[in-house]
Amino acid sequence: MTQLTTRSETPISRMGYGAMQFGRTVDEDGAREMFRACTDVGINIFDTAFSYEKGESERILGKLVSPFEGEVIVATKAPNDRPASADNLRDAFAQSRQRLGLACIDIYYLHRFDPVTPLEETFGTLAEMQSRGEIRHIGVSNFAAWQIMKAQAVCAKFGTRIEVCQPMYNLVKRQVEVEILPACNDQGIAVCAYSPLGGGLLTGKYAEGARGRLSEDPTYASRYGQPWMHEAARGLSALAQSRNVPAATLAVAWGARNPGITSMLISARNTAQLQPSLDALNLVLPDDLYAEISALSPEPPPATDRSERN
Ligand SMILES: NC(=O)c1ccc[n+]([C@@H]2O[C@H](COP(=O)([O-])OP(=O)(O)OC[C@H]3O[C@@H](n4cnc5c(N)ncnc54)[C@H](OP(=O)(O)O)[C@@H]3O)[C@@H](O)[C@H]2O)c1
Repeated sequence: MTQLTTRSETPISRMGYGAMQFGRTVDEDGAREMFRACTDVGINIFDTAFSYEKGESERILGKLVSPFEGEVIVATKAPNDRPASADNLRDAFAQSRQRLGLACIDIYYLHRFDPVTPLEETFGTLAEMQSRGEIRHIGVSNFAAWQIMKAQAVCAKFGTRIEVCQPMYNLVKRQVEVEILPACNDQGIAVCAYSPLGGGLLTGKYAEGARGRLSEDPTYASRYGQPWMHEAARGLSALAQSRNVPAATLAVAWGARNPGITSMLISARNTAQLQPSLDALNLVLPDDLYAEISALSPEPPPATDRSERN
């Protein structure tokens, strides 16, 4: 298994912070407060992307991480709106490095699988960047397991490998359990998973009529639009109330307890929202509670669709 560390060799924290909302629902002051709240509790991985808010997320995160260079892991992603060709990758990477103000990016992800550009061109370019010391680890996000394996074979031709994967994972998005987590485990790929709260659904706020990303962003409204997902969120809230813990804390702790997850990427629009997710760092779910939470959503069927053991 790839052991991710900071350049100063501190192991990656069990939770990371995702800066997707920087420049959107979070301004620079809010970002600074949340960054401080994270570093205060030992969070040392921060995630952004070329595409977040036209680079504003990278710019804001860059200012925050600059005094901590080498002490935190900074991950960004290639654009998700154009092919991962050599020219596009080099051009976007140069912009990301400039916005972040970093000579070396710890993790550089492909944000999605590109079915058009030959994998040799894409991963050969990433391998070159890595051999020049511009990136430490090659990552992939939103790849299916077969795409990871295919790309891994191509990486081997260039003497490198995919070391990190960033899939979505939460109580109502469990598809990764079927193929992606086993593939990553087999390949020794670290997994930094995103959306532990289902974009906010699992806080339970929508059952109370509150507003947020799911009522403002059609992509998220649709991603989490199925009635059974809202039913699972209500079940989680009831369980949380009975245990006197915020539902958000349970949701994040549930994702982080999966042994296939290296680090869970949390996020919020302010420190008050962030606190219940941070509290999950100190909550190890006992087996019975973990099983009760897991039972709130359907376990995805196995890849072979055969649930019989023989
Ligand atoms: N690779 C990818 O394709 C990809 C995709 C998505 C995310 N990511 C990464 O993963 C990170 C985390 O993802 P995510 O933002 O989807 O995580 P999430 O934890 O599922 O959702 C976070 C959102 O939930 C709401 N929320 C959080 N705490 C709350 C609380 N206590 N009470 C009420 N609402 C609360 C806030 O949104 P509202 O207040 O607006 O409702 C917040 O922005 C991102 O920042 C990004 O770095 C990557």
